[in-house]
Amino acid sequence: MSTNYAIHVEGLVKRFGDVLALSAIDIDVPHGTVLGLLGPNGAGKTTAVRILTTLLEPDAGEARILGMDVVRQPNAVRASIGLAGQYAAVDENLTGRENLRMVGQLTRQPASTARARTDELLERFDLVHAADRPAKTYSGGMRRRLDLAAALIHRPPVLFLDEPTTGLDPKSRSDLWGLIGELVSDGTTLLLTTQYLEEADRLADHIVVIDEGRIIEEGSATDLKERLGRTLVEVKFPTTRRARIAARQLAAIGPTELSDGDTTVGVGVTDSGKALLDVVRLLESVDLAPKSMAVRQPTLDDVFLQLTGRGPSADDEQPEPATRGAA
Ligand SMILES: Nc1ncnc2c1ncn2[C@@H]1O[C@H](COP(=O)(O)OP(=O)(O)OP(=O)(O)O)[C@@H](O)[C@H]1O
Ligand SMILES: [Mg+2]
Repeated sequence: MSTNYAIHVEGLVKRFGDVLALSAIDIDVPHGTVLGLLGPNGAGKTTAVRILTTLLEPDAGEARILGMDVVRQPNAVRASIGLAGQYAAVDENLTGRENLRMVGQLTRQPASTARARTDELLERFDLVHAADRPAKTYSGGMRRRLDLAAALIHRPPVLFLDEPTTGLDPKSRSDLWGLIGELVSDGTTLLLTTQYLEEADRLADHIVVIDEGRIIEEGSATDLKERLGRTLVEVKFPTTRRARIAARQLAAIGPTELSDGDTTVGVGVTDSGKALLDVVRLLESVDLAPKSMAVRQPTLDDVFLQLTGRGPSADDEQPEPATRGAA
């Protein structure tokens, strides 16, 4: 039953002219969990989020938030969700405090509630010192925090974050991850889109990988890595000659590749513990002493490369219309 899930999506289709932005995708997000929607530029992530937050109507399929249909019950859906967009939708000329109070009004909070909630969120998102400065003076990280705070004014049980940390430096990104982690531990259901595999790995309980509007893989980060990522035993040799000989021998254990100026042999394995012993025994039997050995666990980047035949795309800074669901 769809109502068992906080977010239920079935056969969702969206076309823009000739572009099939979403091709019949199905997604279910259990209450209180985090779904990471992972995909490169143009995969359809924002389109999915816009449909789920009632900003865009699908061409076919259905989507329900807490059992409510996004097309037929948009107002009820909006009251239950928060959205922080790919590009922070803050009013540049208002101060941080004014921005939050304005969203409080838009979400029909009583003035006293909105004021109290504003103070609480400014505190929690470390914006008290800048609360009475216009938002145009804020750094990128501060804007993202303000945008996220605005999405939380009305305490929505379901939250959508569209690439919440794109364009932030590592410190701001890690701070924001901390804040998002706190929200989730408070029981908020979260759908998060990202191009950062590390972000999905860190925050999501379940990951759906989309590419060109289709789901190409899904599972937990661990599942995906186990199923798709290949563990590499990397053996470094003092000379390329020895490395090449070793590569031929080690091919008996798993697929090999040479790297690092042909001095390092990577052997793809599934059971790294056993494989490591096999590699040592084999090298000993042919009297090829390695300079060093290491086991490299697969990253989500490896998974992505394997799924799409290319790495995750670089950030692009093309502007996109600012969006906020709760307004
Ligand atoms: N309003 C629109 N009009 C025409 N085409 C659109 C529109 N919105 C999205 N598209 C197209 O639909 C596809 C999916 O776009 P979408 O913005 O959902 O991707 P995305 O995964 O969010 O990408 P990014 O990582 O760059 O934000 C793209 O090919 C995009 O060009
Ligand atoms: Mg997008």
